[in-house]
Amino acid sequence: MKARASKNIVLIGFMGVGKGTIARELSRQSKLFAIDCDDLIESLENKKIDKIFEENGERYFRELEKKTAKWLEKNTKNTIISTGGGFYKVENLKKIGIIIYLKSSFDAIFERILHHPNAKHKLAKRPLLKDLKKAQTLFNNRIKEYKKCADITISVENKTPKEIAKEILS
Ligand code: S3P
Repeated sequence: MKARASKNIVLIGFMGVGKGTIARELSRQSKLFAIDCDDLIESLENKKIDKIFEENGERYFRELEKKTAKWLEKNTKNTIISTGGGFYKVENLKKIGIIIYLKSSFDAIFERILHHPNAKHKLAKRPLLKDLKKAQTLFNNRIKEYKKCADITISVENKTPKEIAKEILS
């Protein structure tokens, strides 16, 4: 798969599962560039994601995800793409690349966030994690959807980013 891959590798999964971290590790191991959908949206709007939610609302943000998805389909190949937790809903997802679902339990995701040295920021920048109960419901609803969209499902619990990236590339 390494340098000869022409398809993008698209990482999907719930907030905080480590899509960005794993994308960067994949990039290091494969020597392919990694880009992040939320970063693209923030640069397009010149605004942080939480501000977009606050000032323009979630529906507007979802439209930006669709726009990003179209751009990615048209303009990228050989690229590792990490996505926001709700990006899997875009119509053209499968056309962007090979879809890899990073799977983890809700508890393990929260453990990961809470033990992060920058936990406060990790929570604050994600408007949909503000209410734990709502986040749990969202998780329960989404896990089936992630699985349906995925070409490959990788369980990430109790594994290092290095191990996960190696597994994906093999
Ligand atoms: C969202 C996930 C976030 C970000 C936005 C919405 C979601 O990205 O796109 O807050 O709907 O799950 P991460 O999955 O990187 O936290």
